[in-house]
Amino acid sequence: MDSYVPIADGVFWIGVNDRETALFEGLWPLPRGVSYNSYLIVDDKVAVVDTVKAMKADQYVAQLRALVPAGKQIDYLIVNHMEPDHSGSITLLRDLYPGITVIGNDKTAKLLADFFGITENVQVVADGDTLPLGRRTLQFHLTPMVHWPETMVSYETSGRLLFSGDAFGGFGALAGGIFDDEVDVAYFEDEILRYFSNIVGKYANMVQKAIAKLAGLEIAVIAPTHGPVWRHNPGHILDLYDRWSRHEGEAGVVLAYGSMYGNTCQMMEAVARGLTDEGVSNVRIHSVSTTHISYLIRDAWRYRGLVLGAPTYDVGLYPPMSFFIEMLARKKLQRRLLGLFGTYGWSGGGVKTLRSFADDGDWDLVEPVVEARCHATPADQENCRLLGQRLAQRLRE
Ligand code: FEO
Repeated sequence: MDSYVPIADGVFWIGVNDRETALFEGLWPLPRGVSYNSYLIVDDKVAVVDTVKAMKADQYVAQLRALVPAGKQIDYLIVNHMEPDHSGSITLLRDLYPGITVIGNDKTAKLLADFFGITENVQVVADGDTLPLGRRTLQFHLTPMVHWPETMVSYETSGRLLFSGDAFGGFGALAGGIFDDEVDVAYFEDEILRYFSNIVGKYANMVQKAIAKLAGLEIAVIAPTHGPVWRHNPGHILDLYDRWSRHEGEAGVVLAYGSMYGNTCQMMEAVARGLTDEGVSNVRIHSVSTTHISYLIRDAWRYRGLVLGAPTYDVGLYPPMSFFIEMLARKKLQRRLLGLFGTYGWSGGGVKTLRSFADDGDWDLVEPVVEARCHATPADQENCRLLGQRLAQRLRE
């Protein structure tokens, strides 16, 4: 695709798709790529909002040149976010358009200097400042930690367009369509949640502050730096973001388990059966050994019920589960109904670590916690089923 698309009169999407990078930030799988969205506003003044990752600069410049031919000037480059997936072409743009003024806040200015040595032709704006372009005017709102300290959003007042940076965006390259009414919204919702939970979720309280701050704006279009542009129903993605950042889970249960020889897996099956006994059909079962952690974190963020089960290994918790709970703690997920089970052979350690995790977080532990020696006895199996039933009952409350 990778050619410009008008999103309003004189406003263009000039982003690129990246179908080559395997792991975003070297961490998160991109099975269907990712887009880096940049925008161009052509008015009395010409402004670019955010750029793209350096590896895509050639393609980016080619389509920018289609709208702003060589010899024409770009007046402003608005930098809403300095992470290199968006700032990677700033240096090139300054080389191609030497008169360009880079706009950011005081924290942006420091990162511009530290990343790229850019200290000249930088205009620092404060919260609420405006930049007239002609018929259109940009207004800047600082939204720190959504996702870095310098993050801000730019609101175009006449068209009510919100250039939102990482907020409301997610994984998944754009496949032809760029608007929410042109794409498979369900797929992108999954990938926006995976982006949110893994990358922004740790700062959910700051997302809440940003949402409160933007509540006074009338928003017709949300134009993020990844994924679709929301012109049909921007309220939908705003609502999802609000719920996710309040740690509000859907009615459902994610069951994450590890198992070496099938004994812990058997206990998981009994928990799942207990959930079914009580009518819960929205159950997602993941092996922590074979499911990438980004999907485990995403589903833990999505559902209100979370059940963790694992064996003991090296007198401690099974390593993939250990990594999962470490990441859950790091991402500061809260307010889940939590169920625990596990196995051990001669000395415990697995379930003990899971209990410590439960004690340290904002979880609502559902009893019984089931610990089986070597394999689940019929009584252990019955307790696992009871755990599933009780969790389902709590989910209904
Ligand atoms: Fe898409 Fe925080 O960068």
